[in-house]
Amino acid sequence: MSVSRETPPLCDYEGSRYRTEFWDPSRTYEDAVERLALRALLPPTGERLVEIGAGFGRLIGEYAGYRQVILVDPALSMLEQAREHLAADPRVILVAGSVYDLPLATATCDTTVTVRMLHHLADVPLALTEIARITRPGGAYVLEYANKRHLKAILRYLLRRQGYNPFSREPYEFVELNFDFHPAYMTDVLRQAGFAIEAGRAVSILRLGRLKQLIPAQHLARLDGWLQRPLAPLAPAPSVFLRARAADRDQCAAPASLFRCLHCRQEGPLAQVSDSLVCPHCQTGWAIRQGIYDFRVPG
Ligand SMILES: C[S@@+](CC[C@H](N)C(=O)[O-])C[C@H]1O[C@@H](n2cnc3c(N)ncnc32)[C@H](O)[C@@H]1O
Repeated sequence: MSVSRETPPLCDYEGSRYRTEFWDPSRTYEDAVERLALRALLPPTGERLVEIGAGFGRLIGEYAGYRQVILVDPALSMLEQAREHLAADPRVILVAGSVYDLPLATATCDTTVTVRMLHHLADVPLALTEIARITRPGGAYVLEYANKRHLKAILRYLLRRQGYNPFSREPYEFVELNFDFHPAYMTDVLRQAGFAIEAGRAVSILRLGRLKQLIPAQHLARLDGWLQRPLAPLAPAPSVFLRARAADRDQCAAPASLFRCLHCRQEGPLAQVSDSLVCPHCQTGWAIRQGIYDFRVPG
C-alpha cells in the first residue's frame, strides 16, 4: 500500500552558496551567540541526536556528547558539503529528506534539533507532528525560531515605519517561504504537538549594524550570552531558542530500526542491497549516494 500526502512547498537550498555567502566573517557574532544558546539548552550527552534542516552541518561541533548524530536536509548539495567537512566521522549519518515526512522510525531520537529551519516552513504544526513522532517519549527538542515580536519590530511599528503588526499571532511571511513567528503562536503549536517548554534564551538582541561595527564579535557575543537567559521571558530578541520536552507516553517499545519506508510507512529494518536501502514489505528502493541516504524520491 502506498500512502500519498500533499506536503507544503520547500524552500529550495539545492546548489545555494549558503555556507560561503551567508556565513562569511560578518556573521561571526550570530554564529557565536547561537552556539552559546545551543550549549545552554542541549542535553550534553545522549545516544542519538538528529538535526533537521542541518544544512552543511555548521553546528556539528556542538554534538560531541552523542554516540550517533543524524543530519537531515532536503538539499543534497548541502549534505555533500557536510560530508566533505565532516571527514567521514563514523558517528554521523546523512539523510536527504524533509521534516514534513521524515524517513526515521517513531521514537528513534533522544534529542531533536532545528536551528534556522522553522522560518522556512509554511506548515509548522505539520512539521511538529513529525518531530514529536521521531523524538522518544521524554526526549528533548531544542529549536530556534525567528521572532516576529522583537523589540526593534515593536519600535518600528509604534513609529509607523513598519506595515505588519508584531503583536498579531499569525506567522508573518516577509519573503516567500520566510516566516517570523509570534512567541505565543510557537507556545501554542508546541503544546498542541505534545511538547512542554522547559527553558528558553533570547538570542541576537545586539544584532545591530552599528554595534557590530564598533564592538569586536567575540565581546558582543559574550555580552549577548549574559543577556540571553534573563531576557528570555520577555523574548525581545529577533531569535528565540527553546528546549521543549516530548510527552512521556505510557508504553513505547524501543524502535526496531532507524529508518522507515516513506512509500508504505512500515517501520522495520530496510535491507541494504548494493547502493540502495530496500523495503522488505513493498520492495521500494531508496538510493544511497556516496554515503548519503536519499529519501527524497524512490530510486
Ligand atoms: C538557513 S539554513 C540553516 C542550516 C543550519 N541549520 C544552520 O543553522 O546553519 C536552512 C536549512 O533548512 C533546510 N530546509 C528547508 N526546508 C526544509 C524542510 N521542509 N525540511 C527540512 N529542512 C528544510 C534547507 O535546505 C537549509 O539547509
